[in-house]
Amino acid sequence: MSLPRGFSDEVRQQADIVRVASDYLTLKKKGGSHWACCPFHQEKSPSFHVNGARQFFKCFGCGKAGDIFTFVMEIESCSFPEAVRTVAEKMGIPVPAGGGEADVGHDEAERRRSELLHLNQQAVAFFEKSLTESIEGRVALDYLASRGITPETRKAFRLGYAPNGWDGLSSYLRSQGASRQQIETSGLVTLRENGSGFYDRFRGRLMIPITNPQGRVIAFGGRIIGEGEPKYLNSPETAIYTKGNNLFGLYHAREAIRQRGFVILVEGYLDFLVPFQAGVRNIVASLGTALTETQVRLLGRYVRQVVVNFDPDAAGVSATKRSLEMLLQNGFRVNVLTLPDNLDPDEFIQQRGAEGYLAILKTSSRFLDFIVDQSLRVRDVSTPDGKVEAINEILPYLRLVGDRIERAEYVDRIADRLKIESRLIREEFRRAVETRRTQVSELARQASTPVKPAERTLLTLLLADKSLRSIIIPLLKREDFAELRTERIFESLIDFERRGVDPDWSGLSRALEGDEMAQDLLSEFLSGDEALAPVDRDDERGDDAPDDNNGGSGRRADYQTTTPEQRREELRRRALESLHGLRSLKLVERLNALQIEINQAQRADDPSLLISLLQRKIDLAREQQELAKWQPG
Ligand code: CTP
Ligand code: MN
Repeated sequence: MSLPRGFSDEVRQQADIVRVASDYLTLKKKGGSHWACCPFHQEKSPSFHVNGARQFFKCFGCGKAGDIFTFVMEIESCSFPEAVRTVAEKMGIPVPAGGGEADVGHDEAERRRSELLHLNQQAVAFFEKSLTESIEGRVALDYLASRGITPETRKAFRLGYAPNGWDGLSSYLRSQGASRQQIETSGLVTLRENGSGFYDRFRGRLMIPITNPQGRVIAFGGRIIGEGEPKYLNSPETAIYTKGNNLFGLYHAREAIRQRGFVILVEGYLDFLVPFQAGVRNIVASLGTALTETQVRLLGRYVRQVVVNFDPDAAGVSATKRSLEMLLQNGFRVNVLTLPDNLDPDEFIQQRGAEGYLAILKTSSRFLDFIVDQSLRVRDVSTPDGKVEAINEILPYLRLVGDRIERAEYVDRIADRLKIESRLIREEFRRAVETRRTQVSELARQASTPVKPAERTLLTLLLADKSLRSIIIPLLKREDFAELRTERIFESLIDFERRGVDPDWSGLSRALEGDEMAQDLLSEFLSGDEALAPVDRDDERGDDAPDDNNGGSGRRADYQTTTPEQRREELRRRALESLHGLRSLKLVERLNALQIEINQAQRADDPSLLISLLQRKIDLAREQQELAKWQPG
């Protein structure tokens, strides 16, 4: 929306640079002017000078200088009109509707957005009040205390409580003059299925406001008090809130982020709040997902260096890896911090304090070392097979190291850890770059990999039956599902089993966050009873794969004739058969891929490589023979 001519002058005349700057910086008054550490470069003693009388700023360290709008444009990385608008809002100067050329649709959308912001503001106040002033709220206050959250932190982040009724908030909003339609689109209520009205979305939960980088509340996360499901309930997307566009805590943390020159990226609400409260203030939370491109760009306005500190579980590791790609592609320098004993940042700080955290922060590893560690953890690299697999996993990331000297250092380090010659890695790397064989994005590769029938059957069975999981999951080897389209579903299932948690839809889909195709497949498997339908064994050989075209109707046997034990046995056999089928297929694929490498090695006239490849071929062929002898037992 364009602003009328002359409006910026009007704002400039009324605005106060000291007041606006102190929203972003801690200013200290000395003589007639104010001083702070410069937000635009790193420094320890303040050389950033704000002059209220003459309404300008100058940094004597880096030389940046200008008026109030320059300041806001720089610090918000925004355009001039946006800066004018921001300053006007901060000073309480009404922003006029757009000039003649602004189209009506745009104005309408803008109006609805500002109504929603207003509604959220009222909701924050309502939740705050019911936390501190209602009897019911005391449980939530106690809960906050039990999580070590102080009253100061609670106030600073405007934490609240959503009461247990069905219309506490919506009645309040109505009483404040909000229309039904406004409330319906606010994300604060849930629409009734039968179309008659709505009820409060958040009930009996601790409410955590999510703000945009300007500090306006745009959504909420609601935590259940104590145990229960879902642990967190979040606002849905609305006209002012898009999942994956925001970073939790950025508004409060940005000054510290600029000053420290790096940011710590964590997963959860409490993983942000607890360290922040303890004084670790250069921190933001992605809220349980891998970083999106938008979030990375947003972060890029403030820093170029990130320490990723996600949970050490499988979902966290895969979110870390995907975030790494995103950050590196956008030119960030990245370290990874893995806390001991499976602790998340919240738990770690509660146990060892900010000092302990800052100490362990120093041990964070460069991203590629993290990738190498991960890769070595899951396979045996004393075998040639394991070495090749590890190299293939690491190479795409090596490619993300832009600096040649740094890359050379890494090559040596990887070679050292895998106990192979650096030359081999360099050659492998060159070949990968030349043939463009190596894809950085796992998703791109996996998207083009069709799901195999045996894979589908196996997952459907595993998702459907707990006892099957306890039999089959211990048998799974990484190579059974590595590189499959459903690799992440397998990984998550294994992780849930290891933790003794039932893999329900919400937990799994969270673990698969960011991979929509995997989430779609998951719903498909969860609803697919095809693989579970009884099969008349005389009708067909024990082919486990449900035929895509034929609904399997000709194969259904009579449920009545099967006892529960027979049925359980039948499902177990079918799961084992699909696992076996999957292994055979993967072996064939690996042999084919190996043959291509052998041909290349022959052409390149590299006898030592050729020998090790041929040895692998022999090993694989032996494995194939073993597999062929297998009988479902
Ligand atoms: N999350 C979510 N919905 C869920 C579970 C998790 O949105 N049902 C998001 C939240 O932002 C949460 C983050 O994922 O903070 C990390 O989840 P998790 O590690 O399970 O929770 P914690 O942050 O450790 O939560 P707490 O410490 O409160 O138990
Ligand atoms: Mn936690």
